[in-house]
Order: sequence, then structure tokens, then C-alpha cells
Amino acid sequence: MAPFEEKLSAAALSGRIVALTGAGISAESGIPTFRGEQGYWTVGSRNYRPEELATLDMFQRAPDLVWPWYLYRLGVCRQASPNAGHIALAELQRQMGERFILVTQNVDGLHVRAGSDPKRTWEIHGNISRFRCASACHTGMWPAPDDLREFARGDAIEPGDRPLLTCPQCGGLARPHVLWFDEYYDEERYHWDSSVQAAAGADVLLIIGTSGATNLPNVMARVALESGAAIIELNPARSAFSALAEASGGGHLVGPSGELLPPLVAAALHPA
Ligand code: APR
Repeated sequence: MAPFEEKLSAAALSGRIVALTGAGISAESGIPTFRGEQGYWTVGSRNYRPEELATLDMFQRAPDLVWPWYLYRLGVCRQASPNAGHIALAELQRQMGERFILVTQNVDGLHVRAGSDPKRTWEIHGNISRFRCASACHTGMWPAPDDLREFARGDAIEPGDRPLLTCPQCGGLARPHVLWFDEYYDEERYHWDSSVQAAAGADVLLIIGTSGATNLPNVMARVALESGAAIIELNPARSAFSALAEASGGGHLVGPSGELLPPLVAAALHPA
């Protein structure tokens, strides 16, 4: 057994594991990553980078530019199914119970659909299938209406869509429950404190399918490293986390998570 496998197995049997996932874990479910080739946003005939449109400022100035991309992506997420990577993490969580926490940047809901416990699956960037009031007339959320039509890339909002994009309490505009680039993490909606705390208490931090472009995942990796956790990264490419993983006594496993995770989890739970 490699040293990282021994650490993972020891943690799976009697320690604490935190898994941090990004868009890469859903790539094999057919959902394009953000910084991959399909990651651009099409609005009308123009392509944008996510950072250009995924802001509260842009939503407030031009909601009709921002909503269509989320509605397109909502359709993609609804049609996608969890893959072997999501299912392996759900199994690890089932076996480890309270000792396992899943922190995901993904808004696609696939971890919970794969069987992960929603109470211990923290969606730190929100969930595209939930809407909330854009002017925060109340703090509640509601599910994206089932009768929203399918949006293709580049489709525009039509008058018939508007009632479905409206807050049921104040009649103002609704927004998707996602964390935009010019917004802050908090505990109430995005589990900031709990995620940092979980990373600090982890024996192993699994980092799966993320490039490391956002703040909380970087804080989690640093805190885990400082408190002596082994970081094991699963990613076909190098990322902001690869060197940290190697320095931590963990490592970087190169490949798609749908292929790497099932045998890794099985070996951790049932060491030879
Ligand atoms: N298995 C594992 N990893 C993969 C796979 C795969 N099959 N395919 C691609 N990857 C890796 C890529 O190599 C890359 O490192 O997934 C990562 C995807 O990176 P990003 O597209 O940057 O996605 P992510 O890190 O989740 O983005 C973070 O940025 O745009 C915002 O809020 C959005 O949550 C998102 C955040």
C-alpha cells in the first residue's frame, strides 16, 4: 500500500475525511467545467467568460443577460445523472457517518441525487435548482419551477418566462441561489465557518476535480495542511492544489474521478 492509501484507509476506518469537489467530478456526467473548452457563456451571438457575467452587479444591471445562461445550465443539470465518482463518495459517507463531510462547489445537486446526505453535503456555491428573492424581501428559497421551458445556449428570456422568474412574496425579480464572483461567502447560506472548521479537523482532505480558482477551497487546503492532514488530489491535470497535496504526504492522482474514486474508496473501506 502506498503511504497515501494507508492514511486514507486509517481515516476511513477511524478518523475524519473531508472531500472537496469541483466541476471536474461532474464532467463525466456531461456537465461542462467552467474553465474547460465548453466553459464559456453564450448570450445571443456573444461568448463571455463566467467571471464576466456571474456577478451581482451584472445581474442587477442586466438580468436578461444573466438569467438565460443559468436556465440553460439548469436544463443541463436536470438532464444529467450522477456518475461513479458521486456514487463512491455517497458510499464513503454512508460508511463513515458523522466522520465524513462533503463540501462541493457544484450547484448541480448531483451529490445528493447520488445518495449523499444533504445535511453533510455543503453546497458552498449554492444550488442552481433553488431560487430566492433578488431583493431579499425574505430569506427563504423555493425550487426552480418544473414548468420552466428548456433553454438552449444563447436563448433569450421571453414574456412567458417572466412569471416563473418572479418572487412569489413581493412580485419582484427572482435570482438563482448561487454565489456570484462579487459576493461573499457566509455561514448561513454557504457554510464558510463549518467548512473551514471541518478542514482543520480532517485527517485526510480529498480534493477532486477543481482548478482552485475560488477562495474557500484555498483556505480549506491551507488550514488542512497547517493542521497536518494529508491532502489527496484527484484530477487529470495539475491544479493550484497539486503541489500542496504532494507536500502534505498525500499526493496527486492523475485521472478522471469517475474512474479513480470507486477503487480508491473500496480499498480505503476494505484494506487488503
Ligand atoms: N475528473 C476529475 N477532474 C476533472 C475531470 C474529471 N473527469 N475533468 C476535468 N477535471 C478538472 C480540470 O482539470 C479542472 O482542474 O476539473 C477542474 C475544473 O475546474 P474549473 O472549471 O475551474 O471548475 P471549479 O474548480 O469547480 O470552479 C470553481 O468557479 O466559476 C466558478 O463558481 C464556479 O464553482 C465554480 C468555481
